[in-house]
Amino acid sequence: MEFALITGATSGIGYELAILFAENGYGLILVSSNQERLENVKKQLNEKYNIPIHIYEQDLTRQGAASELYQKIKMDHLSVTVLINNAGFGLVGATDKIDLQKDEEMITINVTNLVSLSKLVIADMYRQKRGKILNVSSTGAFQPGPYTSTYFASKAFVLSYGRAIRYEAKPKGVQVSTLCPGATKTGFFSREGTTTPADAMSAEVVARIAYRGLMNNKEVIIPGLKNRLLQLFPLKLKMFAVAKMKHQ
Ligand SMILES: NC(=O)c1ccc[n+]([C@@H]2O[C@H](COP(=O)([O-])OP(=O)(O)OC[C@H]3O[C@@H](n4cnc5c(N)ncnc54)[C@H](OP(=O)(O)O)[C@@H]3O)[C@@H](O)[C@H]2O)c1
Repeated sequence: MEFALITGATSGIGYELAILFAENGYGLILVSSNQERLENVKKQLNEKYNIPIHIYEQDLTRQGAASELYQKIKMDHLSVTVLINNAGFGLVGATDKIDLQKDEEMITINVTNLVSLSKLVIADMYRQKRGKILNVSSTGAFQPGPYTSTYFASKAFVLSYGRAIRYEAKPKGVQVSTLCPGATKTGFFSREGTTTPADAMSAEVVARIAYRGLMNNKEVIIPGLKNRLLQLFPLKLKMFAVAKMKHQ
C-alpha cells in the first residue's frame, strides 16, 4: 500500500489534498496539532473511501516535533511514498512588534520541521529508489514581504530548499516539487488576523492543480494565471502592495 503523509490535513489545502489522495487509492497518514479535528477528518474520509487512515497529533511549532512524528510512524511500521509538508501559518506586523516566541514557533513549523521531516523521509525514499515530496511554499517566496517579513522569508527558504533537494534527489529516483499558492480561501487569513482577499482561489482548485503538478513532476507549481502573471511585476511595486495589505 502506498501512503501519503500530509501535515496540516485538518483544513484548507491539506484537507483537500487528503481527499485527492484518498480518491486515488493512497493510504493516509494525517498530521495536525489537534486530535479532535483529526478524528473528524478521519471519520469523514472513512465514510467515503475504503483506505487505511492513520492520524497523529503533533504540534509542529515545537522543536524536535518532526523527529518525534517520524519515530511514531516507524513504530507503526508505516512507510511514506508521498510526503506533503503543508502545515504552516503566517504572522503580520512590524518585525519589532511580532511576539518573538510566536515568530520562532512560526519559523519552526514553516522551516525547521519541514526540513527535518524532509531529511528523515527522503533517506528512506532514497533506499527505496522512489518517492515524492511536495513542499508548500507561497507566491510570497518570490519577494520580501514588509509587515509579514518572517513569513515571506520562511516561504522563500522553502522554495530554495525544495529546488536544491530536487536537484540532489533526481538521480536517486525521488521527485521534489514546490507548491506556491497565491491567496487561497482557507483558515489562513483569519489565523493571521487579516481578511481573505475577495479574489482568493478555492482550496479545492489549488489542491487539484497541486496534485496534478506533483504527479507530472513539476518543479514549481503556481496555481492560477493571475498568480503567475503577478510575478512579472516589478519587485518594489509588489513590496509596496504587500506592505499596504499587511500594515494595520
Ligand atoms: N491560504 C493562503 O492564502 C495560502 C497562500 C500561500 C501559501 N499558503 C500555505 O498553505 C499551507 C496550508 O495553509 P492553509 O491556507 O490551508 O491554511 P489552514 O486552513 O489554516 O490550514 C493549516 C493547517 O496546518 C495545521 N497546523 C496549524 N498549526 C499547526 C501546528 N502547530 N502543528 C501541526 N499542524 C498545524 C492546521 O491544523 P490544526 O489547526 O488542526 O493543527 C491546518 O490543518 C501553509 O503552509 C500556508 O503557509 C496558504
